[in-house]
Amino acid sequence: MAPGNAPTQTVGPVFKSLDEKPTATVSSEVGYDNVRVLPQTPQLIALLSMIRNKDTERADFIFYSNRIIRLLVEEGLNHLPVIEHDVVTPVGRTYNGLMFQGKICGVSIMRAGEAMEQGLRDCCRSVRIGKILIQRDDETAQPKLFYDKLPEDIAQRWVLLLDPMFATGGSAIMAVEVLKSRGVPEDHILFLNLIASPEGVKNFATKFPRLKVVTAFIDEGLDEKNYIVPGLGDFGDRFYTI
Ligand code: URA
Repeated sequence: MAPGNAPTQTVGPVFKSLDEKPTATVSSEVGYDNVRVLPQTPQLIALLSMIRNKDTERADFIFYSNRIIRLLVEEGLNHLPVIEHDVVTPVGRTYNGLMFQGKICGVSIMRAGEAMEQGLRDCCRSVRIGKILIQRDDETAQPKLFYDKLPEDIAQRWVLLLDPMFATGGSAIMAVEVLKSRGVPEDHILFLNLIASPEGVKNFATKFPRLKVVTAFIDEGLDEKNYIVPGLGDFGDRFYTI
């Protein structure tokens, strides 16, 4: 085991023998049915290694984050309902397929969540996107809702809630409360993030047992400033400004 509770595992390609495979720290396990951690493949671990590295420059940080975001969106979409849909191929045969049923929208928690919008647009053409701004109130130190702009018919949509770093869960919990107050059923919300803390996952999974979380990695924990460790630092700063 690596420090904390993050397990170390071999992650090399299947065609390599066990003694040739490199080892890497992979995500902690989760004990909640509504939390889905992406498969800890060599590609994912290599992408996460790029964005966790403090020496990775901004252009590379954006590029590799976008690749992980794409994986998260594709996995998130797998949790939406589908119906049977047969199609005829150019050689005249029928293929028994599937078709997505329903309407979706993205909701980003500003500002870091906005970094995930393009990944959603790349998979879902002309998808509607709402925004929520939650910041810590200086007087109470509690999260406070400053702004929201959501599609009017959001109650009829499946919502992909976007925030790359799932630390204490305070902002995400408030964002879900806002969505629920607009009529979105809890089980129509999917929360997508790149790195989660065990504390955030536990808070969320117990408070919203019917909502699904899709994350690339559950880290060791939080430091005294509520940064995820080992984490990657401030996602918004690294994506937008540094
Ligand atoms: N937000 C970040 O950008 N990083 C963390 O580690 C926690 C919250």
